[in-house]
This record gives sequence, C-alpha cells and structure tokens, in this order.
Amino acid sequence: MDLKNFREIIREKPLLESEVSNDPFGFLKQWIQEAIDSGIRQPNAMNLATVDLRGNPQSRVVLLKEFIDGHLSFFTCYDSPKAKEIDRNSHVALNFLWFDINRQVRVLGKAKKSSKEYSENYFKSRPRDSQIAATISLQSGVISNREVLETKYREFEEKYKDKEIPFPSNWGGYLVEPSEFEFWQGRSGRLHDRLRFIKEGQNWTISRLSP
Ligand SMILES: Cc1cc2nc3c(=O)[nH]c(=O)nc-3n(C[C@H](O)[C@H](O)[C@H](O)COP(=O)(O)O)c2cc1C
Repeated sequence: MDLKNFREIIREKPLLESEVSNDPFGFLKQWIQEAIDSGIRQPNAMNLATVDLRGNPQSRVVLLKEFIDGHLSFFTCYDSPKAKEIDRNSHVALNFLWFDINRQVRVLGKAKKSSKEYSENYFKSRPRDSQIAATISLQSGVISNREVLETKYREFEEKYKDKEIPFPSNWGGYLVEPSEFEFWQGRSGRLHDRLRFIKEGQNWTISRLSP
C-alpha cells in the first residue's frame, strides 16, 4: 500500500466570500443539503471531540439531528463517557467530513443537556427497536459477551409486548451552541479554500485562512 503517493484529483468548486452570508448555520444547512443531493451516506454524521476526566482528548461519531434555536442537537446515553465528559467540561469540537464533495466543516462550541420534553418527543419518534436498544444498553459499559445483550433485549421486548416503551431517564439530547465554524473546500493543487466564522457579540466575523 503506497499511501505517501496516493493523490486524488479534486473537482474544482470554489468557496468564495461572496457566496456566504453572515449566517454560518444557514451555510452549514446548505452544505448538508448538498451532501444529501450528492448521494453521500450519513450526511449528518459528525465527529464529536471532548476532553476526558484525565485531560485527554476523546472523539467519536454521533448524528446531528436538528438545528434548533442556534444550536446543533444530537442524542446519546447520559451515563456514557461522553456525557460525563461534557458534564465536567462543556467545550466540544464537531467535525463533518464529506469526502465525495471535498468538504469539511469544523465547529467549536459548548454543549448542554436538552430539555426532557425535547428528548422524550424525539425518543417517541424513534423506531421501537432503537428505543429498546437505547434502554437496555448502558453505553460503553463492559459486557461479558453478545449473548448477554441479546438476552436482555429479548426479555425487555417480551416484558413490553403490546406496551409503549417507557422513556429512559438516562437518555436524551445535547444542544451544542457554536462559537466558531470553519468551512473547508478542497481545491486543486492544495490551494484549498477555508472560511472561518467567529462569533463576536451577536454577529459573526468571517476570515479567510491559509490552507
Ligand atoms: C455513523 C455513526 C453514528 C453514530 N451515532 C451515534 C449517536 O447519534 N449517538 C450516540 O450516542 N452514539 C453514536 N454512535 C456511536 C458512538 O460513535 C460511540 O461509539 C458511542 O456513543 C460511545 O461513545 P462514548 O464511549 O465516548 O460515550 C455512532 C457511531 C457511528 C459510527
């Protein structure tokens, strides 16, 4: 495998100051829509980086579910490592990567738990199997084998046969309030376009960064 000499030809698609408004949320939505239109799988997948209890960085992928009142939302287990990390240090970094259209978006911000009502409404809209899986899985806890999980699932499924799955108290949403966005558009010859939005008061200032 010769990764050192692996180079991809990039289709030219400039990112110009003239095409972005002062609204990075609207622009991120536009890019997600363009990722959807390009047939990209999981266009709402984003890497979520946190700082762990020892001060070390941690990252994992979660799914963006909504743009809501100046926040980006995702859902998870409130007993998971990421939730404990956010409780201790609410500063997070998000990263969207869409290889097929040569784009990346970086977001810095602070995360907080969403309201119970918001979490419950979304939980109720999920397919039943996802509701059961979220309920029986203590996320990132060690289990002795897969059978343990499948047995727990079947037992729970049986117990709640013909009944609504109760909303679990240790599961819900997080809302990330961004303070910074960076939109990266790959260009040919490594002269990529990068526009950074930083929040100052109620406004966003835009700068072009060197690739
Ligand atoms: C494509 C993809 C989407 C994912 N979406 C979520 C999600 O929305 N919420 C979630 O809790 N975990 C999601 N996961 C699993 C996480 O990456 C991670 O394994 C899990 O949340 C445990 O993380 P933690 O131990 O850091 O808390 C997803 C993984 C992948 C690969």
